[in-house]
Amino acid sequence: MTPRRAAGSAPKDVVMVAKRLFIKTYGCQMNVYDSARMADVLAPLGYAPADRAEGADMVILNTCHIREKASEKVFSELGRMRLLKEQRPMILAVAGCVAQAEGEEILARAPFVDIVLGPQTYHRLPEMVARASRAGGAVLDIEFPAEPKFDHLPDPVAAGSAAFLSVQEGCDRFCTFCVVPYTRGAEYSRPAASLLDEARRLVAGGVREITLLGQNVNAWHGDAPDGGAWRLGRLIRALAEIDGLSRIRYTTSHPRDMDDDLIAAHGEVPALMPFLHLPVQSGSDRILDAMNRQHGRSDYLKLVERLRRARPDLALSSDFIVGFPGESDGDFEDTMALIREIGFAQAYSFKYSARPGTPAALIETRVPEAVKDQRLAAAQGLIAEQALAFNRASAGRVMSVLLDRRGKRKGQLLGRSPWMQPVHVDAPDSALGAIVDLRIVAGYANSLAGERANA
Ligand code: SAH
Ligand code: SF4
Ligand code: F3S
Repeated sequence: MTPRRAAGSAPKDVVMVAKRLFIKTYGCQMNVYDSARMADVLAPLGYAPADRAEGADMVILNTCHIREKASEKVFSELGRMRLLKEQRPMILAVAGCVAQAEGEEILARAPFVDIVLGPQTYHRLPEMVARASRAGGAVLDIEFPAEPKFDHLPDPVAAGSAAFLSVQEGCDRFCTFCVVPYTRGAEYSRPAASLLDEARRLVAGGVREITLLGQNVNAWHGDAPDGGAWRLGRLIRALAEIDGLSRIRYTTSHPRDMDDDLIAAHGEVPALMPFLHLPVQSGSDRILDAMNRQHGRSDYLKLVERLRRARPDLALSSDFIVGFPGESDGDFEDTMALIREIGFAQAYSFKYSARPGTPAALIETRVPEAVKDQRLAAAQGLIAEQALAFNRASAGRVMSVLLDRRGKRKGQLLGRSPWMQPVHVDAPDSALGAIVDLRIVAGYANSLAGERANA
């Protein structure tokens, strides 16, 4: 039933049958957003989303380069795609950060790939698809084009009650371990007016919660609709005025870019949810310095104190890297002490992974793998204890939960608490998309169980 022809080659008298598009997304929320936008861009060509690669007419792997493991996954997945491609024709594209960093290498190692495109060029996908189906050779487009892709994308299609809105992209911070400034390029902020428009359209489509996205989201600064310039706090205040938008979040922030107005907004804008992901990476000043984080341990502690003063029920999450080159037992102890001192609702920790082209990869004082393993286990153990304590303390409380998904069991829905905790509840499908008050009956390692407060 599905046409085997690629876009652009179907004779005019043939009725367009939906072609199946499967996108596999790795990495961060920005990639999740980008995958949705790639689907939007390809929809006018007749591509409809599919949930598996088998039988798809086009497959896009939207890749992540952040750690070695993440980028190696791509090559093993490509091996699997090759077998599928031998069975039936399909267009195979590699997008995202590995494509940006290793475009040429992908084509050399996997010549059966049709399209390699970076995160800044996916508005050109229709043209690339046409070229790939015509030419027979691979198409490589990993430019950082002068025209921002956002000016060339169709309006996003709202799907569900919670949505991402990409406000800022790229990073100028250059932490010494990180590939993002190279894969995503220089910081770019979208203008406020176009963000407010996109937000209004999402809300009109049923969205109740918007998460503003950026690699360094709180560095966002844009032309204000009425002239002048805004920073993120002001944008959040403007978004909060959109009727029907109940919840606003933003991620990921850099401690150095939290300004006074943004901190104040946490206390003054009720729609701004009381949860903040604020990566600190390490609790040791020596290591923070070697990471070029541009802030010390005490700066972070003071910042958290100010945020908590503005919004006393603010819950925090963070990212940690263990085993950065030169990290001693004492440095790692400083990290553990910082985790104890702050008390996180959740946090991610990673073993340092040397990335090609980053300054830290050149430091020779590597931490042995076994030591990294021990430190990771210790950090994760402590963080898991804190997360469990935080979730258990929720039991007995009533909280507003946005029911945005079906649960695993029939008759069960899954939602998010204001503090980002997943909450399970028995509720009918008709409650999907609603914000309801739930009484929390139990808190677990990664989720809560709720009942309807008035049921
Ligand atoms: N832009 C975001 C996210 C960057 S990547 C930010 O600034 O926080 C997400 C996390 O991956 C980082 O916070 C860091 O903890 C981790 N990470 C980045 N590079 C890494 C590397 N080379 N090795 C291990 N973890 C890394
Ligand atoms: Fe990477 Fe640092 Fe930029 Fe975050 S702030 S994206 S960790 S360079
Ligand atoms: Fe990965 Fe690129 Fe995001 S490297 S974490 S997908 S910005």
